[in-house]
Amino acid sequence: MKTRNVVAANWKMNKTLSEGLSLIKDIQAQLENYQPNCKVILCPPSFFLGAIDSANLPEKLSFGAQDCSQHTKGAYTGEISANQIASTVADYVIIGHSERRAYHQENAISLAEKVDRALAAGLRPIFCIGESLQQREDGNYLDVVADQITSSLFHLESSAFAHLILAYEPVWAIGTGKTASADQAQEMHAHIRKHIALKYGEELASSTSILYGGSCNGDNAKELFAKPDVDGGLIGGASLEAAKFMPIIKAFD
Ligand code: PGA
Repeated sequence: MKTRNVVAANWKMNKTLSEGLSLIKDIQAQLENYQPNCKVILCPPSFFLGAIDSANLPEKLSFGAQDCSQHTKGAYTGEISANQIASTVADYVIIGHSERRAYHQENAISLAEKVDRALAAGLRPIFCIGESLQQREDGNYLDVVADQITSSLFHLESSAFAHLILAYEPVWAIGTGKTASADQAQEMHAHIRKHIALKYGEELASSTSILYGGSCNGDNAKELFAKPDVDGGLIGGASLEAAKFMPIIKAFD
């Protein structure tokens, strides 16, 4: 397995607890006689994480949360801290998803704090970046994404940066059925890797997983993942049924 290969599921605000646990069982059953060529990470709503039997963890599956607080602990009603997430089965946390940037006013500073909290708790952030349709049409999409990386991540030491996974998710492709073409994804992923190399060097850049997200599914995953700088996907809609999710995992075969 190329060690960079990752397929991560972002369930967003879908499924009841019993539906979620049964989806995990379905995926686990599908993985029983199959060795994936990638790391498989499921990111359900956070409270599901506490209901997964940690004594009996599904083999071949890792878990993550969809967000964490920028604060360490205390009077922040409704928030969930990185330490609380790390006290469950989760090893990962999605940070900076465009839906959180848009609907919860998350910005470069709060996101940098979340990344720091996650790393301090021993979690690996899956950090999302991506341009809007307007920014793509304006032609400055490469700079927009490089700036998102610089402003929230480049304060990190290289030993900390090494724990990150990046997910390029063009906002215009999320949940729209409009996927970036494999060439569009490759152009951005190569740009991201070069940007990381300029700051941290070639070795760290070439070991960083850079996932694509935005209407990725069983029909387009193979072509996207075949690109040299596309290391897998962050999957929303197509991760909500085992029958749709498995072909994406198998796209690495
Ligand atoms: P989508 O979502 O696959 O439904 O487009 C991806 C994401 O938002 O992470």
